[in-house]
Amino acid sequence: MPIDPYAWLEQSLETIHRADWYRSVQTIDGRCGATVLLEGREVINFASNDYLGLAGDQRLITAGVAATQEFGTGSTGSRLLSGNRELHRKLEKAIASLKQTEDALVFSSGYLANLGAIAALVGKRDLILSDQYNHSSLKNGAILSGAAILEYPHCDVTALRNQLIEQRQNYRRCLILTDSVFSMDGDLCPLPTLIDIAAEFSCMLLVDEAHATGVMGKTGAGCVEHFNCTGKQLIQIGTLSKALGSLGGYVAGSATLIDFLRNRAPTWIYTTALSPADTAAALAAIEIVQQEPQRRTQLWENVDYLKKLMQQQVSELKLLPSESPIICFQLPTAADALKAGKYLKDAGIFAPAIRPPTVPTSRIRISAMATHQATHIDRLVAALQEFVMVKG
Ligand SMILES: Cc1ncc(COP(=O)(O)O)c(C=O)c1O
Repeated sequence: MPIDPYAWLEQSLETIHRADWYRSVQTIDGRCGATVLLEGREVINFASNDYLGLAGDQRLITAGVAATQEFGTGSTGSRLLSGNRELHRKLEKAIASLKQTEDALVFSSGYLANLGAIAALVGKRDLILSDQYNHSSLKNGAILSGAAILEYPHCDVTALRNQLIEQRQNYRRCLILTDSVFSMDGDLCPLPTLIDIAAEFSCMLLVDEAHATGVMGKTGAGCVEHFNCTGKQLIQIGTLSKALGSLGGYVAGSATLIDFLRNRAPTWIYTTALSPADTAAALAAIEIVQQEPQRRTQLWENVDYLKKLMQQQVSELKLLPSESPIICFQLPTAADALKAGKYLKDAGIFAPAIRPPTVPTSRIRISAMATHQATHIDRLVAALQEFVMVKG
C-alpha cells in the first residue's frame, strides 16, 4: 500500500494543537470601529491596527465607492500592462509628500512591498542584517533575495556593529532591515544609530514603517520623522492597511530607487495593480492624516491614559517596553495567553493572544485607537483587574 502523501498534514495539525499554537479565525460583523460585533456580541476593539479609526470613516468609504463607480472593481492588469490609473500615481505622490521623499511606489500589500524591494535590492553576493524581531515579510523577503542573512539580537546595535566588522568585507552590497515600530512588542528601533552604522559600513537601510505611518511624528509621517531623520537616505516601506484604513503597501525613497524598483521588483511587476477602491480610500486617508492632526493627538492621549491606568491598577501585569499605541503584557505560556484572551472576550474586550511562532514569548496585545472613549479604556482596565484577581 503506498503511503498517503497528505497524511502528515493531520499529524502536523495535532502537534500544533498540542503546543496550544492552533489558530482559527473569528468573524466580525458590521462596520469596523472602536467597538465591533464579534461573533454576534458587541465588544470593545483593542485588536485592530486601525489606529486612527479611519477604516470605518465615511470619507474613505465614499472615496472607495466613487472610484469603483468610475473605474470598476478591478484594475484588470499589472501596472506595466493595463492596470495603471492616474489614481495610483496620485497616491504615490501623496505618500511621497507625507514622507518628504522624492518618490514612492504602491504595491498590493505591505508584505509584497517588502518581498519585492528586498529581493530587488540584494542577491547571492550580498549580506542582509536583520533584527531578530522583524516582521515575517522582512524575514521572507530576505530569504527570497538569496543573500546571506545574519540576524542581530533585538535592537542590539553593538552586536550589529560587531557583525559588520567581521563580515562586511566579504560581501558586495549590504542591507540592514528593521521594523520601525515592532509590531508585536510596540517598541521602536534605534533609528539614528542605525543610520550612522549604515553610513559607517556602507550599507543600505530599509525601515518598515507599517505601524508608524499616520501614528508617529508631528505630521504622521512615521518614525523617520519622530527621530528627526526626514531627508536621510533610506528605504522606507509601509502599508496602507493600518492607520490608513485601506489595503496596499508602498516603498518611499529617492526617485532613482523607485525607478529601479519599477524595473526590478517582481512583486510589483508581476501582480495586478491595486484596486481603484483601495487606492482612492488610501488617498482620502492621507489627506485626513495631513489635515486632522487632532486625530493623532487624541490617539496619543488615549495611549497615555491607558498606560497610566494599567500601571496604577494592574501593576502585576508585566508590560513590554513600548513607545507606541501597541501595548503588550507577557504571560508564561501559550495556554495562559489563550485563557487571558478568552477571559477578556467574555468580559466584552477584544484583545487577542499572540503566541509563538509569531513571537518568542506569549502575550496579550492591546492596540489603542484615536476613536476609543475613556470609558472603553476604563472597561479594559477593569476587566484586566478582574483577570488578575481570578488568576491569583
Ligand atoms: C511590520 C509589518 N510589516 C509589514 C506588514 C504587512 O503589511 P500588509 O498587511 O499591508 O501586507 C505588517 C502587517 O501586516 C507588519 O506588521
